[in-house]
Amino acid sequence: MTAPVLAIRDLAVEFKTDTGVTPALSGVSFDVPRGQVTAIVGESGSGKSVTANCVMRLVQPPGRITGGSIRFAPDAGDAFDVVKLADRDPRLYDLRGGHISMVFQEPMTALSPVHDIGGQVAEAILCHRDIGKEAARAEAAQMLERVGLDDMERRMGMYPFEFSGGMRQRVVIAMALVCHPEVLICDEPTTALDVTIQAEILTLIRSLQHELGNSVIFITHDLGVVAQIADHVVVMYQGRVLEIGTVRQVLKQPLHPYTRGLLQAIPGVVPPGERLATIASVVGDADIETPHPLVALADGRQVSLPPAQLRRVARS
Ligand SMILES: Nc1ncnc2c1ncn2[C@@H]1O[C@H](COP(=O)(O)OP(=O)(O)O)[C@@H](O)[C@H]1O
Ligand SMILES: [Mg+2]
Repeated sequence: MTAPVLAIRDLAVEFKTDTGVTPALSGVSFDVPRGQVTAIVGESGSGKSVTANCVMRLVQPPGRITGGSIRFAPDAGDAFDVVKLADRDPRLYDLRGGHISMVFQEPMTALSPVHDIGGQVAEAILCHRDIGKEAARAEAAQMLERVGLDDMERRMGMYPFEFSGGMRQRVVIAMALVCHPEVLICDEPTTALDVTIQAEILTLIRSLQHELGNSVIFITHDLGVVAQIADHVVVMYQGRVLEIGTVRQVLKQPLHPYTRGLLQAIPGVVPPGERLATIASVVGDADIETPHPLVALADGRQVSLPPAQLRRVARS
């Protein structure tokens, strides 16, 4: 087995606010296997984006990484701990947008309203690679074609406001992929889109991942989306990891009550006539409170459960 591209261990993040210090992440540990799609799933505020920002070292004050490690093992070169890099370490520059790229929920956060599409994608290439302007623009056109844009001559000279939300997100994905990142992080990239467009973008991300062989971290609050895109699943709640497994294990046989609640909150799973329950109403909060460490089971799954429940799961 090849080493995971990212190995996150005991990651802890705090935010200092007026009312005191809020722990945003505690004891977060999981691996991102190379060349596969790992989904991080959990409801709003569970720490998904903060985890992604840690990988890019983008946590800003009042937030602070207070402990743990993120071991990044590039295809070529030595592995290193992202948490320990000094702010001016050149490896940090190579990491952001070079080795690892990010696609956010709202495409306009990544696009400049005042530059044309072709220029912006070319600029993303020029930031990290030493090629000429003409070559960059030609490559930009190729990548835009790959993410499904046509009529390139005209499109390259257009501005983001002239594109639909789905088209903008395609452009952002092209920008994220032009430097051939080893890891693509998608933070709820389809949440702001219509359902049909959502499905198209998911298919696009999945097929590009097959084609390019890169690793993907896909963040979502929706287990339905996880089923469509992921190989592995990490379930988060209140800044902790509750359960880790393959998509098959987690969706077919969820071990943690919270994960079962998440599944029952998917519209398609709720019996006709019943109201869509919120996760909190499906599982009592007492069940979700999980200060237990993750334990690895024989079949490769990991789960955070009280010892009594854990023994039952391990025997079954
Ligand atoms: N800028 C901030 N200021 C204070 N607390 C924050 C900030 N950003 C995140 N947090 C804390 O981190 C938690 C996790 O946030 P986040 O990772 O954004 O959740 P999500 O799973 O929805 O992406 C929040 O519930 C909040 O307590
Ligand atoms: Mg988020």
